[in-house]
Amino acid sequence: MRRVLKAAGRAVPGQGISRRIADARTYWSAMSGEAWASDSHWRTGLGDEAWLEVGRNHLDIFHRFAKGLDLPSGPGRVIEWGCGGGANAVAFAPIASTFLAADIAPESVTECVRQVRAVCQTSVEPVHVDIANPERAVDGREGSCDTFLCLYVIELTAGPEEALRIVRIAERLLVSGGLALIQVKYRTADRRTRGHRRDYRRNLANMTTFGIDEFWLRAIDCGLTPKLITLVPRNRLDARYAYYALIKP
Ligand SMILES: C[S@@+](CC[C@H](N)C(=O)[O-])C[C@H]1O[C@@H](n2cnc3c(N)ncnc32)[C@H](O)[C@@H]1O
Repeated sequence: MRRVLKAAGRAVPGQGISRRIADARTYWSAMSGEAWASDSHWRTGLGDEAWLEVGRNHLDIFHRFAKGLDLPSGPGRVIEWGCGGGANAVAFAPIASTFLAADIAPESVTECVRQVRAVCQTSVEPVHVDIANPERAVDGREGSCDTFLCLYVIELTAGPEEALRIVRIAERLLVSGGLALIQVKYRTADRRTRGHRRDYRRNLANMTTFGIDEFWLRAIDCGLTPKLITLVPRNRLDARYAYYALIKP
């Protein structure tokens, strides 16, 4: 049916959001398949060089944003939403006061905590996120974080509405003046860069995309104030990334 519709130049209908969420849960929690470890950014999946580069590059962007916004150079109490195998955690935790490792995949939370403990003494706390009810992970932690990281995750969400739930979660977790560093895969005028609305496992890295200005405006709707943006049109892992520095008023 998909081939027939495509051949006729017609749009292939999307799957409902609950089906996409269920497929995402199945994929990330199964810890199986050849690509899972690299999709989850485990050290064993990406390889040492690429894995270390992820954290190094993101820490560099954090420092540039912090300098530009006159924020402290240390990230303070950090939560990473979608921490995977700890590529960012090993770069941020050594200069953080506390690191919260949040993910929908319990094995990735455990792996991230293990990687942090291997590199520093910073206190690290596991946070298990239920993909169908992510807000529950925030309860009791409102206004407790100085820095919220969400990197290589927004594109994997089941749709824009799920991505924006994460931005609202950032708003709840941050202290006033706190920074959300969020990476988004942007779309262009090319129709193929629109987010897919079906076949999660096949399209996972392209499920949710935003126009560059669109995400800026949606972040305001979620209660955060966009201050800075930097673009990475291509890197060793993928393409079309926009990083936003969003401040909680
Ligand atoms: C590509 S890895 C990125 C890991 C890490 N942030 C990094 O930059 O290396 C994506 C991670 O996001 C998690 N994830 C996927 N959907 C999520 C969601 N809706 N909420 C939180 N985590 C999610 C996956 O389990 C996986 O560990």
